[in-house]
Amino acid sequence: MAIKKIVENVINVGVEHWDREIFDSLIPLPDGTTYNSYVIKGSEKIALIDTVDETKGHLLKENLKNLGIERLDYIIANHAEQDHSGYIPAILNMFPGAKVVTNTKCKGMLIDLLHVKDEDFIVIEDGEEISLGDKTLKFILTPWVHWPETMSTYLKEDKILFSCDFFGSHYATSDTFVVDEAKTLMDAKRYYAEIMMPFRKMVARNVEKVNQYELNMIAPSHGPVYKNPKLIINAYKEWVSDDVKNVVLLLYISMHGSTEKIAEHLIDSLIAKGIEVKPFNVLTADIGQIAIAMVDACTIILASPMVLAGAHPGMISVAHLANALRPKVKNAAIVGSYGWGGNMVEQIKSVIPNLKVDLFEPVLIKGLPRDDDYKKLDKLIDEVAAKHVIDCNL
Ligand code: FEO
Repeated sequence: MAIKKIVENVINVGVEHWDREIFDSLIPLPDGTTYNSYVIKGSEKIALIDTVDETKGHLLKENLKNLGIERLDYIIANHAEQDHSGYIPAILNMFPGAKVVTNTKCKGMLIDLLHVKDEDFIVIEDGEEISLGDKTLKFILTPWVHWPETMSTYLKEDKILFSCDFFGSHYATSDTFVVDEAKTLMDAKRYYAEIMMPFRKMVARNVEKVNQYELNMIAPSHGPVYKNPKLIINAYKEWVSDDVKNVVLLLYISMHGSTEKIAEHLIDSLIAKGIEVKPFNVLTADIGQIAIAMVDACTIILASPMVLAGAHPGMISVAHLANALRPKVKNAAIVGSYGWGGNMVEQIKSVIPNLKVDLFEPVLIKGLPRDDDYKKLDKLIDEVAAKHVIDCNL
């Protein structure tokens, strides 16, 4: 909750949420998160870009007080989700003259979600600017980075892009700026996978849109500020591209060891073919790690035992997650074991309609795999390897 100076008269007064463990009741947060909120002091007007989650609002209030902010003219709402907007009503109460500056869609959401009053808004269009005196804010609509109303704010004189969720990372840190680039990129990749990947094509358009501006810094509303914007812009360009890597994502569950034997054989044989394998026991794995692996895998293999005539419920759940995240994976296979029968393949297929994949012939094995079963698995492995040569330009 320390005040963090970005440049002269641009200050992050946001809050670290060190011990937050889950986001949207869905996403694990191994490193907590931050809600960055930026004060921009112009020679005539003062703006606050985004607020914080309502539960941590008292800390934002304290930071504003410690900074000596006695007047706010504008509250810029880049995004209506409550981790950034939740404290807007309280800020309006604290600074009755302030206006919420945002686009039409975001205004509607803030009215619905937080009951902000119609008269408290100034509505802007794409490309519109407001002057703070010696500083100018330009609004760039960047829909679907994360919700349809999301936008970014560009501080023209300092060439800083305030991008809210876009380019963000869930990482509570005392650092103001990126220090460890490798860690930041992994945090940002996790964030991209969980939040942005379902809207990959629209994200790609927005990367191009903001990349037209001269950028000295990118200041998201989660995670540290980038003094080297190319670091995250180039990473996003790679993630949103259609290119995949020579990687198999293997998601497996085993009840009595048979599917585990299948998984072990797949892992060893795929590695022997020169393919990188990322295996996860989905019942114990961090779904954030699974999501990261989905970003550039060429093939996803779902390996499940049959239980009560269908796939294991944990496999249905992770398949549903993959379907929702819409990774650019090009191939899929369903394998597994059974004791007496069921309809696992059709059941899994029915929950992954969004995955535009070539589906290999399923391999279902009765009980523990025998020699003939391993031959069927080897045929699948050969087919995967051949397909990777084409799909991954090997
Ligand atoms: Fe950080 Fe979509 O809110």
